[in-house]
Amino acid sequence: MLTRLALIATAHADPAARRLGLAADSAGLWFRSRRLRRHWADHENHCHQAITRAIAGLTPRRTVLVLGSGQLRDIPLALLAHTFDSVLLVDAVHLWPARRQAGRFANVRCVTSDVTGRLAQFAFGFAPNPPLATVKADDSIDLTISANILSQLPIAAEEWLERHGRPPADIAAMAHQLVGEHLAALTRLPGRVCLLSDIEMQERDRSGTILARHDLLAGHTLPAPDDAWLWPVAPFGMAQKERAYLHHSVAISDFKAA
Ligand SMILES: C[S@@+](CC[C@H](N)C(=O)[O-])C[C@H]1O[C@@H](n2cnc3c(N)ncnc32)[C@H](O)[C@@H]1O
Repeated sequence: MLTRLALIATAHADPAARRLGLAADSAGLWFRSRRLRRHWADHENHCHQAITRAIAGLTPRRTVLVLGSGQLRDIPLALLAHTFDSVLLVDAVHLWPARRQAGRFANVRCVTSDVTGRLAQFAFGFAPNPPLATVKADDSIDLTISANILSQLPIAAEEWLERHGRPPADIAAMAHQLVGEHLAALTRLPGRVCLLSDIEMQERDRSGTILARHDLLAGHTLPAPDDAWLWPVAPFGMAQKERAYLHHSVAISDFKAA
């Protein structure tokens, strides 16, 4: 409990993200990713392989931008730091373990920022900014990795709208807009874009039968991936004894060309 509070208190967080509960969510994810590291290893390996494919043949290799760097589990940080002149790790929340890892490399910088430009709208009633407004001016970016952030982008907004009694159709429309804005922003960035994302959640029983499916991209579909796999986000016994929750995940190592 103390560690959780300490993780939240020492987090570098965008003020709106903290207000909307993202610092607490990150601390929760930190604990889950440690507890489930054996179950998540294959997922992380698929992500690392996709990033390796995205780097292959890429020149020049000046700046790599990582959107949703989080706990740095999906990201081969040492490889990026050794391959690129500079590594920008963008997330609305940087916990101290991730900051400490980043601090091992002189060319890695954490940028604490909301990539949607909309969190302050919900938290404080401010006018929205364009997505990626803080980073997209940098034309030295040769590779951007959207690192399992896409399906997460609507969550804070959906929860806020739900708390404020908005109808389901409005909530669904906002979720659709946030996912769409991120995809559009990726296509406008300079350089290659590697997209890693979960696209669907499946609930399965022990026989492997799919009991329910949930779209994680608010109605958007992605181009054909170069890799796809199942990520056991909550294996049997985690959320429910007899039901496992798996995310159908994909990698598109050259999103703009796909
Ligand atoms: C599933 S995690 C990504 C995992 C991460 N790539 C890793 O290797 O640990 C999703 C991340 O998206 C971040 N995030 C969610 N909404 C965000 C936003 N609006 N702006 C920036 N980051 C956001 C969360 O803080 C979280 O770290």
